[in-house]
Formats: sequence, C-alpha cells, structure tokens
Amino acid sequence: MPDFAIQTENLRKSFKENEVLKGVDLAVLRGEIFALLGSNGAGKTTTVNILSTLLKPNGGTASVCGFDVVRQAGRVRGSISLTGQFSAVDGMLTGRENIVLIAKLRGVPHPKKTAERSLERFGLTQAADCRADTYSGGMARRLDIAMSLVGDPAVIFLDEPTTGLDPEARLAVWETIKELAGGGVTILLTTQYLEEAEQLADRIAILHGGKIIANGTLEELKKLFPPAKIEYIEKQPTLEEVFLAIIGGEGQRQ
Ligand SMILES: Nc1ncnc2c1ncn2[C@@H]1O[C@H](COP(=O)(O)OP(=O)(O)O)[C@@H](O)[C@H]1O
Ligand SMILES: [Mg+2]
Repeated sequence: MPDFAIQTENLRKSFKENEVLKGVDLAVLRGEIFALLGSNGAGKTTTVNILSTLLKPNGGTASVCGFDVVRQAGRVRGSISLTGQFSAVDGMLTGRENIVLIAKLRGVPHPKKTAERSLERFGLTQAADCRADTYSGGMARRLDIAMSLVGDPAVIFLDEPTTGLDPEARLAVWETIKELAGGGVTILLTTQYLEEAEQLADRIAILHGGKIIANGTLEELKKLFPPAKIEYIEKQPTLEEVFLAIIGGEGQRQ
C-alpha cells in the first residue's frame, strides 16, 4: 500500500453560501513535493488551513501523517509546519533571534545551536545579526522557511512561497525547496504559477471550481493536452531568462 503523508476524501468547506471546496480528493506520498495549483480564490489557502487544523471542514475527511485533522488535531500539529502566505518573521528581531525564539517556543533542545545550523543552511549566516526588516524579500522568505523547519516536521505546507518575490529571489527560494525535499520531508506547496509547479513538483493537482480537475506528474498532465501540430518553431526565451541573463546572476542569494 502506498505510504501517504496527506490524504483527503470528499473534503468540503463553505463560507456561508460560498461553497469553496466541493469534494476535494488528494493523496500526497511521503517524501514528495506536491503542488496544489489554482488561480486566486480557488481555495488553496482554505485547503492548507484545513490540513494544518486552522479551519474545520464542513464535510469529508482529511488526514496528515495518518492523523485525522479534526479528531487528532494535536497530533497533526505536532507533525507539520506551515509557512503562510504572509510572513511570520518579526522585523524588529534579527534573523538569529527569530529562529531562537521559534526554537524555544517549540521546545527544541539547543535553540542557539539550532539557529546557527539553520542560518547556515539557508545562506543567512552573514545577515544573522541584522534586523529582519532590513532583509530583501527573498532573504525574508528564506528566514520564514527556516523558521518553519525548526523542530524537524515531517510535513511542510508552503502557501504561495514565492508570490510577490522578484525573479532572482524566486529562484533562490526554489533552490531552498528542492534542497528540503532531498532531506526526505513531504512538501505541499500552493501556487498560482504554472512554472513554479513545473520546476518543483513531483506531482501536481489543479484545484478549480471547488474540485481537483487534474492530478498527476507533469508528464501525465502534458499528455492530457496534446500540443497542436506546429510546422516551425523558433524558441523564444522567457522574460525571466532574459531578465536573469541581463543582470548576470549578480547579487544572487540576496
Ligand atoms: N475566512 C473566510 N471567510 C469567508 N470567506 C472566505 C474566508 N477565507 C476564504 N474565503 C473565500 O473562499 C474563497 C477561496 O479563498 P482562498 O482559499 O483564500 O483561495 P486561494 O488561496 O486559492 O486564493 C474565496 O472566495 C474567499 O473569499
Ligand atoms: Mg491563498
């Protein structure tokens, strides 16, 4: 039997008359990066909030690491971390202080050592003792992700991890996410960007009209939409490629 880190069946959620989730079925394998793709207002955050026990569903079931999100909410919370759409970083504190604070809150044995290691892992050692409100968007997001990983959660939820970041910072966050998955954790990320799902995800589900309308690997999804017959193709670089070529990788990891 496959080893699912996250499973939902017929998950439903309404806000008054607004039926946002109309029966969502998801199955995320342990250790994979799974992208929940959907446009603004599709219900991505609602889904993540239910899975992370912040919201109660109106119907259906959901489990994380084998624990039911309603009946075993405490066990679920002990197994996950959530990086929301809006940063949890405290700008008045330094990067180091932010991580030490979280480590203490989570009862991690050696908060200072933990902070040191995680600052290094996320390329933030040099900026460790600067106030977080002086960080660039990309650095702040990396700090946010570093904080969410304190305590070694088995499942990580990243809700639109790169929305609002410039292309360089987005690439740096992508690298971070790829590294994380190499370490064996399960990642469910939400995104509005096709390219992000394409770059990062082992499998992708498209949430639309309150349901999962497509689900599979990128290759499987591509087969659903056979390309039109094209006689002659001149490959144009994407805007992102052009931008990055012009600035020449300068200030990477900023
Ligand atoms: N707490 C709430 N109260 C009422 N409506 C909400 C609430 N949260 C989300 N919604 C509505 O649910 C829909 C889906 O929202 P959301 O899950 O945030 O979408 P996404 O994250 O995909 O952009 C939207 O129409 C939004 O207005
Ligand atoms: Mg959202």
